[in-house]
Amino acid sequence: MPEVRLTKRIEFAAAHRYCHAAWDEARNRAAFGACFNEPGHGHNYMLEVTVAGQADPQTGMVVNLYDLKRVLKEILEEFDHKHLNLDTPYFRDRIPTTENIAVVLWRVLAARPEIGRLERIRLYEDEDLSAEFLGIDNQAGVTKRYHFSAAHRLQSQGLSEEQNRRLFGKCHGHGSHGHNYVLHVTVQGGVDPSTGMLVDIPALDRAVAERILRRFDHQDLDRDPELAGRITSGENLVRFLWDLLVKGLPAGRLERIGLSETRGAYYEYRG
Ligand code: NI
Repeated sequence: MPEVRLTKRIEFAAAHRYCHAAWDEARNRAAFGACFNEPGHGHNYMLEVTVAGQADPQTGMVVNLYDLKRVLKEILEEFDHKHLNLDTPYFRDRIPTTENIAVVLWRVLAARPEIGRLERIRLYEDEDLSAEFLGIDNQAGVTKRYHFSAAHRLQSQGLSEEQNRRLFGKCHGHGSHGHNYVLHVTVQGGVDPSTGMLVDIPALDRAVAERILRRFDHQDLDRDPELAGRITSGENLVRFLWDLLVKGLPAGRLERIGLSETRGAYYEYRG
């Protein structure tokens, strides 16, 4: 029987500091920037826990949400309003990056069989950065969110004006219209034990800025030399963005690209 997935979200706040004990100050500063500042800084983390299983024929549930919530609150006692480096035993020999915190939370939760089969943990440090872990070593994921605004007009070269208008409606107006595009880039790979990171986020930001944001932000997509003549639908665009980024990552493997054209339309491509 196919399984059902259930996701519960819960928030907690914690402080952390990135510091590799064996490195000198200059090397720590170069690797971690402001995250090396003493005594640390804090985030409002959002934890998303997905469990999977068969719905119990008597209760209709995979897991009782009250039980899941109780267990999550119990385990977060150790993390909520704490300094992760100083107040918890988990980060003496590993940096409390989002990736490492997600892995630690997986281990703590996987030891609680009453919540059912743990399928995925996703941890948001803020709305722009999240890490996910599915319990498979060296396969954590990091997702970073970016924004660009661009104009486009949907039209198919092979169709008449009338046919284009019928097919694309308002998206084939007399001129272009624009969107605030939201781009989600997910990189997968192993966490570097010395930095606690899967990918250097500033380097990822630079790659996305150079290959995508600088090219498209506040531009007309239909005038891009490589997009000219192609229909700039969300589907075509998300695949094109994948091609632009897949060979330019600083580390890891591009796992997926998500693109929101409006708040009501989301496209995803996994290569
Ligand atoms: Ni931080």
